[in-house]
Amino acid sequence: MNKESKILIINGSPRRSKNCSKIIEKITSKLDENQLNYEVLNIYKMNIDYCIACGYCERTGKCIIKDDMTPLYEEFDKSIGTIVVSPMFFQSISTKVKTLVDRTQAFYSSKYILKQPSIDTKKERRGMFIAVGGQPEYENQFLGGQLVMDLFFKCINTKLISNIYMSNSDEVPYNDNKEFQEKLNKKIDNYIKEIKLI
Ligand SMILES: Cc1cc2nc3c(=O)[nH]c(=O)nc-3n(C[C@H](O)[C@H](O)[C@H](O)COP(=O)(O)O)c2cc1C
Repeated sequence: MNKESKILIINGSPRRSKNCSKIIEKITSKLDENQLNYEVLNIYKMNIDYCIACGYCERTGKCIIKDDMTPLYEEFDKSIGTIVVSPMFFQSISTKVKTLVDRTQAFYSSKYILKQPSIDTKKERRGMFIAVGGQPEYENQFLGGQLVMDLFFKCINTKLISNIYMSNSDEVPYNDNKEFQEKLNKKIDNYIKEIKLI
């Protein structure tokens, strides 16, 4: 593993200091302990516009829109991993996460339409998806977000090795949910182990 390589952590919540932020604090403290490089992307503070389906990426493999997404294409390419932490909004990931996901269509086009990948498809990368739902647990609470994430991680050529869900956050927030904290600790430790194997 190249010591310079980074893990990108996407904070999908617009709310500061709430559940997703607390989860990310836990992740970053563990990454620090293990001296792993990372960058937290607070995407609600970033200028990332939505895909306008203009077709430019189908001809060039690049996105025509120039904004805070522009440098992220290279960041995803160089990364050794991506962790997405998102609240559930209407049975899916939050709006801004979906906006970022749609913009990775440029990678998709470069690979599957142009057959000239603009991301190194041979590079090993590891992914994790963490979702927070305000409602008490119900059937398929996280399915909508999971399906989007499955495709997203394929698109950025990152092997999704772990998913973890926290229900009922509006009633029992992260700080009070010891059961979830324990599960999260184990998942992060395992993720770090896998990252170190790269
Ligand atoms: C627009 C909107 C839609 C939501 N939809 C869902 C939902 O479909 N299922 C669910 O369990 N929680 C839903 N919630 C609750 C959030 O997932 C919950 O409050 C979560 O803790 C937000 O993450 P945060 O605390 O990190 O900001 C929704 C909240 C908002 C604002």
